[in-house]
Parts: sequence; C-alpha cells; structure tokens
Amino acid sequence: MKKIVIIDSNLGAIDLERGIAEQYGFSIEFPKQCKTEEDVISVVKDADAIVVQYAPVTRKVLDAAPNVKVVSEYGVGVDSIDIAACTERGIAVCNVPDYSYQEVSDQAIALTLALDRGVVVLDKEIRKGNYGLSAVKPLHRIAGRVFGVVGLGRIARAAAQKARGIGYQVIGTDIAFEPGAITDDGIPVVSFDELLAQSDIVSLHVPLMAGTKHLINAAALSKMKPDAVLINTARGGVVDTETLVEALKNRQIRGAGLDVFETEPLPKDHPLTALDNVVLTPHAGYYSEESLYELKTRPVENAAEVLAGRAPRNILNPQVLT
Ligand SMILES: NC(=O)c1ccc[n+]([C@@H]2O[C@H](COP(=O)([O-])OP(=O)(O)OC[C@H]3O[C@@H](n4cnc5c(N)ncnc54)[C@H](O)[C@@H]3O)[C@@H](O)[C@H]2O)c1
Repeated sequence: MKKIVIIDSNLGAIDLERGIAEQYGFSIEFPKQCKTEEDVISVVKDADAIVVQYAPVTRKVLDAAPNVKVVSEYGVGVDSIDIAACTERGIAVCNVPDYSYQEVSDQAIALTLALDRGVVVLDKEIRKGNYGLSAVKPLHRIAGRVFGVVGLGRIARAAAQKARGIGYQVIGTDIAFEPGAITDDGIPVVSFDELLAQSDIVSLHVPLMAGTKHLINAAALSKMKPDAVLINTARGGVVDTETLVEALKNRQIRGAGLDVFETEPLPKDHPLTALDNVVLTPHAGYYSEESLYELKTRPVENAAEVLAGRAPRNILNPQVLT
C-alpha cells in the first residue's frame, strides 16, 4: 500500500487527512512533528508522498526518500521545499494557493466597511449611552469612493470585485501590469503613486519580499488623501508601522484596518491599540471553517492524485508529469 507521510503540521488531528487518504486506498502517517532536516530524514525512508507545512524538504531529505513521487504543501508558501531538486528527480511539488482568497478578500471588505460606515466606533459609543453620530462624522457615501488595490493577484481581484458590488469605483496597481492597461476583469491599472493620490481606500495585497518591505512608508503616506483609509490584509512588513502610527495620530490619513502586523501576535500594549481610528483583527483573514477544511484536505488530495498517476489540482512543476 502506498504511504503518505505528514512531516509537520500545526493544524491539529489528522482525521480529515486520513479520510482522504483512505478514499484513495493509501495509508497515511504523522510520526512526529519534524523541525530539522535530520527529523525529516528519520521518517521518510519508505514514504511515497510527503505532506509538509514548514519543515525542510532538501536534497539530503530527497536522497533519503527514494520512493517519493510528490511533495505536497499545506497552504501556499513552498519556501521550505527545494523545488529544483524535486524537479530534477521527477518529483511533483504541489500547494494550495487559493484555499482562503475568498476569506481574505472578505476580510479586506469587512475592515473597509467597518471604517467607511463607522461600525466599530458607533458600536463603542452606543454601549456608552451615546446615540449620536458625532464620533464618526464626516462619513461619505460609498458610491463613487475609490477602492485602490495594491497588487492585482487573486485576493486583490476578489476584493476589487466585491468592492465594486458595494459601489466603490476600483483601480489597481501591480508591477506586472503597465499603467494605462485594463485587467481582463476590468480594473484600470495606474501607477503606485497615482493609486495613492486617487484612492479613498488603499488595500494592500502584495507578498512580503525585498521590493515590498515598508512599501507604505512616510513618502507613501504623504501621497495619500487626508480622508483616506489604509487596509492591510497582506503582511505586516509591507507597512512601516511606526510611521503609520504617527500618521494616524496626526490624522494625516483618516484610519486603518489591519489584519496583519510586523510583530505577531500584536503586543497588548502596542501603540496601535490606543488609537480610535484603527480597526484590528488578529491575522484572521484566512480563517473560515470551509477554508480550514480545504487547507487540511487538498494537500492530501494533491498527493494522492499524483500517486494515482493523475494530474493534481495544483502543481508547481507540471513538467514532471510529462
Ligand atoms: N491575512 C491573511 O490571513 C492572509 C492569507 C493569505 C494570504 N495573505 C497575503 O495576501 C497576499 C496576496 O495573496 P494573493 O493570493 O493575492 O497573491 P498573488 O500571488 O495572487 O498576487 C500578488 C500580486 O502582487 C504583485 N506584486 C508583487 N510585488 C509588487 C509590488 N512591489 N507592487 C505591486 N504589485 C506587486 C504580483 O505581481 C502579484 O500579481 C499574500 O502574499 C499573503 O502575504 C494573507
């Protein structure tokens, strides 16, 4: 019987994973929570498939796992897997790039509406016995406000579509698109600076990497409208937090909705928690019961499809299948 080995996971019991493996007639094991290369080597000797979250899958690991046909990631990020080494050996590398794009784009919209309709502030005021609107004035009609997405990938486009449905006018920027272009789903592309200058909402959807670290810094904040709101559901490091805190304190921009932080968990006494013009959520964007189900089951499905000799739903090196 072909054997799938889970080498690490912080996603709890593996009942869902076992259910999928059994449907295919394969066995599945989670012998231990591996952290190091040595840990992994100690459990993969007779594995046909490896399912991994963060543990290293290196050349040395692959040398110690001669039967492996597929390495399958729990989630999106495959930086712990040596994809080149897998490809050389004809080993498929799979991930689940889209398990939470609906949830994260919903979170961006939820944070946007919380600020643009004053929901959190009004909730706090009503509990204090204040039935007035002065704490949130002025709010503006959403129809016609500009929702700018930074990054035009999967999550940004889903957020843009939802924002448009509510009445926002949508624009976007992305290093992969020329300003002046229009995406196939109808989003006008502008330069980063134009987006900052024109948007009432600036919603971040770029990965954290050298080119996006502190993309929102003092210079970027100074180009935003004074009434603008910043939404970050991408990664904390895309924003220079200290500078943002100052900009929010000085009302240089109107507010921020943040799901991700440079330090996670966000310390309880962090300066952001003292500001009344921010709405904070604890890196919750990815979460729903449905997305968690996909996160646990789809890596095993991908692995099992490869072991069954078929193309999996997601594969990063499809050339190994031919
Ligand atoms: N809050 C959460 O729980 C949560 C969950 C999943 C993903 N995320 C974050 O959301 C991000 C976006 O996810 P996605 O699935 O849409 O990714 P994606 O890969 O589909 O899209 C990212 C886009 O960003 C663009 N980009 C890269 N550098 C840029 C730059 N300097 N300026 C403008 N555009 C740039 C890329 O060209 C790409 O089109 C992820 O990288 C991740 O950090 C957060």
